Amino acid sequence: MSVAKKEYKRVTVKSLIEMKSNKEKISMLTAYDYTMAKIVDGAGIDVILVGDSASNVMAGHETTLPITLDQMIYHASSVIRAIHRALVVVDLPFGSYQSDPKEALRSAIRIMKESGGHAVKMEGGKEVKDSIKRILNAGIPVMGHLGLTPQSIYKFGTYTVRAKEEEEAIRLKKDALMLEKAGCFAIVLEKIPAKLAQEVAESISIPVIGIGAGNGVDGQVLVTHDMVGMTHEFNPRFLRRYMNLYEEMTNAFIKYGEDVKSGDFPNEKEQY
Ligand code: KIV
Repeated sequence: MSVAKKEYKRVTVKSLIEMKSNKEKISMLTAYDYTMAKIVDGAGIDVILVGDSASNVMAGHETTLPITLDQMIYHASSVIRAIHRALVVVDLPFGSYQSDPKEALRSAIRIMKESGGHAVKMEGGKEVKDSIKRILNAGIPVMGHLGLTPQSIYKFGTYTVRAKEEEEAIRLKKDALMLEKAGCFAIVLEKIPAKLAQEVAESISIPVIGIGAGNGVDGQVLVTHDMVGMTHEFNPRFLRRYMNLYEEMTNAFIKYGEDVKSGDFPNEKEQY
């Protein structure tokens, strides 16, 4: 079991690299709004990801593709206002960095300037290498994201486990090395075999944060709404639900509805 070895008043990209070398696992969760970010940060989670999963979770879209740069900036600035300790990483949304490195840099600068986020995350390997380098050259920390990359869902057609075949596994390992060499401070590996993820984590010096990538990596990330059971239709094997908020909230809403209809709410103490 890994235990906290050092108190971090403020988590930075440097702290994460230090955690890896001290064999301290890194905790990361998503948040898209002030109230949730305040709870996550207060609980001592190291990294808050303003993920483009906001497109699914907050807006109800089927994929992450529709969310815009303006919407990501809105979510990220709400999160930033809540945090005292966590490092806040913001996803560059689909369409904001794929066309060319200059546009990628413009998008990353908007995120840093307009939201106050601390770093950006980008999906992909060698195909986005030039954009990553350009952003890094401007002093903006970049987290990579390999394996299942939801922004490419229409290319793959399914959300199943990635890199099970040797050819894709070799490509993923090369991409991870390239991201480290380019200067990324960490990499997310999503939904790939645990053995491959461990191999990658052991082959590079920057932290590897897994989601559905087993326990041999340097940290874990989950979508907060999934792990607290606010969502209930998404049930991948890698998801551990720590509560069933969907049920608890539904029961609270039913009870409130009943109390209003019956005239039980508000009672004498709940009025002026
Ligand atoms: O957008 C997101 O929530 C993510 C995580 C699943 C890693 O990218």
